[in-house]
Amino acid sequence: ERGDALPRSLDGRRLVISAGGTREPLDPVRFLGNRSSGKQGYALARVAAQRGAEVTLISGYTADLAPPSAVSVVSVRTAQEMQSAVREAAARADAVVMAAAVADFRPATVATSKIKKGADEPDTVPLTRNDDILAGLVAARAEGDLPADLVIVGFAAETGDENGDVLTHARAKLERKKCDLLVVNAVGEGKAFEMDVNDGWILSADGSETALEHGSKALMASRVLDAVTPLLTPTIG
Ligand code: CTP
Ligand code: CA
Repeated sequence: ERGDALPRSLDGRRLVISAGGTREPLDPVRFLGNRSSGKQGYALARVAAQRGAEVTLISGYTADLAPPSAVSVVSVRTAQEMQSAVREAAARADAVVMAAAVADFRPATVATSKIKKGADEPDTVPLTRNDDILAGLVAARAEGDLPADLVIVGFAAETGDENGDVLTHARAKLERKKCDLLVVNAVGEGKAFEMDVNDGWILSADGSETALEHGSKALMASRVLDAVTPLLTPTIG
């Protein structure tokens, strides 16, 4: 998307953006995965690069997206691979944006050969919780293992339910994750997944809440980066 109001506003900044979904293997031919297209993360990477940032895109599986130009792409498969790639890149970054759909669980064991029908067939799949990459970044920053001025941004796709509406769940998630910004997409009713538009909010750790009206993922990316930019430590000179 052109007509960006803030050309070169990320000049000299290093951004790490995760995108797409992870796949957690069950056996050599099967996995647990999700429907993330990667479009939002790729749009963020593209717009950040257009604004002058040096972008590392940590990419899981996507809907066959072309890598944005002038962006370094690191391809990962599992949540564990994504965690190591993000942590390594975060050490020299100004901001990390976790737009990826990271699997919350992985199969507890991976069969070395294809699981077959027949006598030994399993009727359940035992799962193990994957580390929360985003929460891990926040903890590492607090412990001094990452730069104190690293800006950390999370994404959340939420639906309302009997326990509360989208914003109630989103505020609780920001409270749990303790990231600087949480970008909230309202999902359900055919929204967000595999679509080109979104609805949502940007919630900030300082309590401010900005509504994101319906728009393309490129426009969403611009708004997210507009919110990240003022949080970056001023550069000297
Ligand atoms: N995330 C992460 N590592 C995980 C799971 C999620 O870094 N293992 C990140 C996502 O990339 C996203 C944010 O955390 O930026 C929120 O993801 P979400 O799935 O909404 O949060 P969860 O804490 O997993 O909550 P839920 O139980 O609602 O899935
Ligand atoms: Ca999750």
